[in-house]
Amino acid sequence: MTIDHSPVLATAPTPLTLDRLVELTATTAEEVRRGLHEIRFDAENRWSVRLRGDAYADVWLISWTPDQSTALHDHAGSLGALTVVSGSLTERYWAAGLHERPLSGGGGAAFPLGHVHDVVNLTAAPAVTVHAYSPPLTAMSYYRVDGTGALTRTHSILTHEPEPGTVVLDDVPTRDGAQRPAPAAGGAR
Ligand SMILES: [Fe+2]
Repeated sequence: MTIDHSPVLATAPTPLTLDRLVELTATTAEEVRRGLHEIRFDAENRWSVRLRGDAYADVWLISWTPDQSTALHDHAGSLGALTVVSGSLTERYWAAGLHERPLSGGGGAAFPLGHVHDVVNLTAAPAVTVHAYSPPLTAMSYYRVDGTGALTRTHSILTHEPEPGTVVLDDVPTRDGAQRPAPAAGGAR
């Protein structure tokens, strides 16, 4: 059997582009700086609120207290972008290996389809970000880097939220009631 490797359009099913999403998060971040949106911080549970949403995109405001992070994840069939309103974060992203880049006030990042990353607040001060996803998030997959350095998917969830509090497979006891073994590596949840 031969596989056709002819180029295809690697775009998400949305009329919005990554550039438009970056613009959307940047203008919304400016609203946040002007005090138009309430921000909360919760060191126990990651805090986020959807500021607006329609058929094409969702825009979320997210806060990060020191040490808060996501796990390595993708955004399924959604494009994404973020702008840092205040504070500094570190993004770890997969590009044939784990790489790191700083994200600080006013800066941001765009997430094409297939982008796998983890965001963490390594500073002693809280941080605030605005995120946009298009089409709105419907699912996320989580990953770990295994002992051979390969990226391995651990589980997938259906979610409309970028910071889901959903029970995930690793948290679900096995049929005999035992807890599933924790992944050998990977970001904190
Ligand atoms: Fe993400």
